[in-house]
Amino acid sequence: MHFLKDRGFVHPVGSDITPRHVYAQRRRLLQGVAGGVALGALGALPAAHAQITRPGKLAPLTGGRSAVHGAVTMDKPTPYADATGYNNFYEFGTDKSDPARHAGRLKTRPWTVAIEGEVKKPGTWDIDALLKLSPMEERVYRLRCVEGWSMVIPWVGWSLAELIRKVEPTGNAKFVQFVTLMDAAQMPGLARGGLEWPYVEALRMDEALHPLTLLAFGAYGEVLPNQNGAPLRLVVPWKYGFKSGKSIVKIRFLEKQPKTSWEVAIPSEYGFYSNVNPKVDHPRWSQATERRIGEDGLFAKKRPTLMFNGYEPQVGQLYAGMDLKKFY
Ligand code: MTE
Repeated sequence: MHFLKDRGFVHPVGSDITPRHVYAQRRRLLQGVAGGVALGALGALPAAHAQITRPGKLAPLTGGRSAVHGAVTMDKPTPYADATGYNNFYEFGTDKSDPARHAGRLKTRPWTVAIEGEVKKPGTWDIDALLKLSPMEERVYRLRCVEGWSMVIPWVGWSLAELIRKVEPTGNAKFVQFVTLMDAAQMPGLARGGLEWPYVEALRMDEALHPLTLLAFGAYGEVLPNQNGAPLRLVVPWKYGFKSGKSIVKIRFLEKQPKTSWEVAIPSEYGFYSNVNPKVDHPRWSQATERRIGEDGLFAKKRPTLMFNGYEPQVGQLYAGMDLKKFY
């Protein structure tokens, strides 16, 4: 823990997380400072203080509303500016605004995704071929971050199960691992260390095959902004946000349960499952409530966090009989 902290890298304590309105104010202030005195002494300010670049007009990517049970929540979607300006993507820095500042340089073409391990059809998929594998669907999912905030995002993509069936896992495939891009030339955050790169995540095979597990290529009716994990990312709505790896380059089918980046970094705090569970506290803070980004004005109430992030009817049976305090 301290090892990580000393390297400047740690998930903040819940109460330390900057409320969104304070953060926005600070951001405006920084922009003002950087803009106003750019040619003076502050010319030496790190790039982190530069104007935040919005992705601008991205190519449209639409899909019909998903018919998967539970895939379209009626909760109000988070404003686009929040979902694309307040991110975790540590390869681009640890501040919530770093991904929006730095991910613009990420090249998302050409891009390939390697399929490896226990499958009958291993190989390399070009992103543009992958895009056409199955009809796009819109899924409006709640995403609950382990840090205590949540968002509601209209993603565009299709169930990961479509790809899994296509590549035909062997009987030995029990887990699916997601390996994300590691490219120091494009990702300034890699130099900082702290996590073991590349950022890796994994699911049990039945979790990966669940129809709610989404391979997302877009959001808000457009292709994914880089800071949200372009050109493709996972979205597992009943698990804490860090399970949803961004900018995936490899999907591996494994017999043994692999370690994930967060398990390796802080094993006392992060387990393999990481299901959203209001009854299992993080060792340093409660998980009973959450702030919904966009609702966090001065008087906004916290929301109670729901078991499996509200997806219990759909996924509860995957964990029947398991002690979720032990398998956290
Ligand atoms: N994927 C990669 N490659 N690197 C990361 O740092 N952060 C995770 C996850 N995927 C992360 C990642 C965390 S902690 C969260 S909460 C979500 O992405 C945030 O997704 P969002 O910024 O689109 O809301």
